[in-house]
Amino acid sequence: MDIESRIEELLSRMTLQEKIGQLNQVKAPLKADEAVFEQIRQGKIGSFIMATTAHAGNDDTAITENLLINKMQKIAVEESRLGIPIIYGRDVIHGHRTVYPVPLASAASFNPELVEKCYRNIAREATADGVNWTFSPMLDLSRDPRWGRIIEGPGEDPYVGATMAEACVKGFQGDDISNKDSLVACAKHYIGYGASEGGRDYHRTEISDYNLYNYYLPAFRAAVNAGVGTVMSSFNDISGQPVTSGKKYLTDILRGKLGFEGFVVSDWDAVCQLKKQGVAENDADCAELAINAGLDMNMTDKVYINNLEQLVIEGKVSEETINTAVRRVLKIKLQKGLFEKPYCDAPEIDRTEHLKDARAIAEESMVLLKNDGVLPLSKNSKVALVGPFARERRALLGSWTLDGKAEETPNFAEAMKAVIGNNMLLSDDNIAVLDNSIARAVKADVVVLALGESEKVTGEAYSVSDISLPKNQVELIHRYKALGKKVVGVFFCGRPMAMEGVAEYLDAILYAWHAGSETANAACNILFGDVVPSGKTAVTFPKRTGHIPMYYNVTSSGRKVDCYYGENPQNCYVDSYPTPAFPFGFGLSYTEFEYGEIVSRTNEITLSDLKNGKSFNFTVSVKNTGDYDGKETVQLYIRDKIASVMRPLRELKAFEKRLINKGDTETFSFQLGYDKLGFYTENGDYTVEKGEFEIYIGENCLTTNKTTVEII
Ligand code: NOJ
Repeated sequence: MDIESRIEELLSRMTLQEKIGQLNQVKAPLKADEAVFEQIRQGKIGSFIMATTAHAGNDDTAITENLLINKMQKIAVEESRLGIPIIYGRDVIHGHRTVYPVPLASAASFNPELVEKCYRNIAREATADGVNWTFSPMLDLSRDPRWGRIIEGPGEDPYVGATMAEACVKGFQGDDISNKDSLVACAKHYIGYGASEGGRDYHRTEISDYNLYNYYLPAFRAAVNAGVGTVMSSFNDISGQPVTSGKKYLTDILRGKLGFEGFVVSDWDAVCQLKKQGVAENDADCAELAINAGLDMNMTDKVYINNLEQLVIEGKVSEETINTAVRRVLKIKLQKGLFEKPYCDAPEIDRTEHLKDARAIAEESMVLLKNDGVLPLSKNSKVALVGPFARERRALLGSWTLDGKAEETPNFAEAMKAVIGNNMLLSDDNIAVLDNSIARAVKADVVVLALGESEKVTGEAYSVSDISLPKNQVELIHRYKALGKKVVGVFFCGRPMAMEGVAEYLDAILYAWHAGSETANAACNILFGDVVPSGKTAVTFPKRTGHIPMYYNVTSSGRKVDCYYGENPQNCYVDSYPTPAFPFGFGLSYTEFEYGEIVSRTNEITLSDLKNGKSFNFTVSVKNTGDYDGKETVQLYIRDKIASVMRPLRELKAFEKRLINKGDTETFSFQLGYDKLGFYTENGDYTVEKGEFEIYIGENCLTTNKTTVEII
């Protein structure tokens, strides 16, 4: 029987209560609990979330043991009336036991193939622990690094977001979602959560439909196109409409415009929060609003299981609405193969390759922001290692690390020692004993400062009002600089930190991020030249907090103050220059790349030819003129000069990362067709307009390497 027939056959045998049970997700117990077993028997639990708190990203949360997972599954399969298996979900965000960089960092790798490979590894490890479904990838576009959750997403650009969305979904779900080592993915948080006002978590958002379609939705569209099984609705409201009860978002756009066919799960307790949000009086109202909006599964607050039956009796919710939601849930369970293979046989996982991949992606994610010739360091030089992150382990894993282990994570001092042995002079990390540290540093040829932020100031409910480096770290920089030594700053951070008053005092800056299990080894490989840095920023680094929001794909001001691009920044603020400290797409290498002029095969195409599949073709040659083999990410941006609505000054439309050996020249080719030259109107219709387009191909969004083409 095909899946559709199996769904209908099952549905025809289900009571209303059993149907509602499928829409109920509850917290998984950590030990045997007869009351929970009984609910499973009665068909009242469709899914377990293996988490103990709402924002487990920064809380330790144990995983339900395999024996118990299988025991409860057995009750569902053998002792419930219809034998429908449970789907087990967990926040497996950027790693399981092996941890990869926080997603904002892995986006900086500009290497979707490697991201996909790593997310495949994650799926292998998590499924071996009984997880069927992950609440990842997080795809919230964000322009506000104060927001703690910016680290969980792909940054400020819709194209990078879409590329990473596809890579993560393919990695998690694999070629065949029914394989035992495939995880059902969940694109979240749909939609607009990244626009939380002031970067304050859980706050309201204000997003026009035009911005929604062009900036916030593309990553979700890409996830849907890649076959993502589920979507999580977001906590926020958009202009007063909570997404949890927003039919416009959950049904009209998600299903109507994006064509999503899986099921939607709420965020944690989000359905009953409709009361606090002021659109529902009681739990029954909450359930009615959410299910009628198109929200299929209710996470943790039990509002569906407690109210839907009565709502159907009262005629406020139709049984057909319930059936639709149940069909979607059953479909994913069937596609996942849970009916045939409900149990986890806990295979032993050899993590050797996973750790290698974790190191590779950490290396590719790290961004060399500054280098006044001091890097790479010689392994023979004496290096004073100083700073609060020299011995730190947990922070390197980043927020939303539930199963990675700090004690298995090498710290920076250990990693450096392994490379240069006694040439490393490890200083005390406490500013109070700075005298001792300075004494050591005097003997050193170079000082490496291990700086950064704790994972506890990133992630859910951990936003900050100031993205500056803590004062004691700034003081550390100043005092070491005063020694007259070369000072290198290695930043272990989740978000971009403000660099004003910091960058000027450092001779080199390696932005190492919270890059997972292999952070420290990867950073050392780059510092000592075993690896040539190749990361590029997927988010703008503002100079100071007051410059937020600052993002590259901004529209033009009518008054000659496009400060991002250096146009009269003095007229934007009287007290500072709001140019980026480091722009989007920026990252240095140890080698040099020289870009040739853009060659365009054709300069004009008619709109109808474009619609029929013709495309513009551009090539550019890039020569490695430096002393190292190195990878370069060549980026293509467009500007639609005159359109019916203002279009951004630059929009990334393509990139390619490739190794170029020293002395070699490589040719990069890009095609721009109908799908890349248009935009969405506020109705969500895609349109391409005639006129001139500027095409930029270069090393970051500020490149001036330009040509012009026209759609006639
Ligand atoms: C709340 C978070 O917003 C969401 O990202 C997460 O998946 C759920 N909690 C479950 O832990």
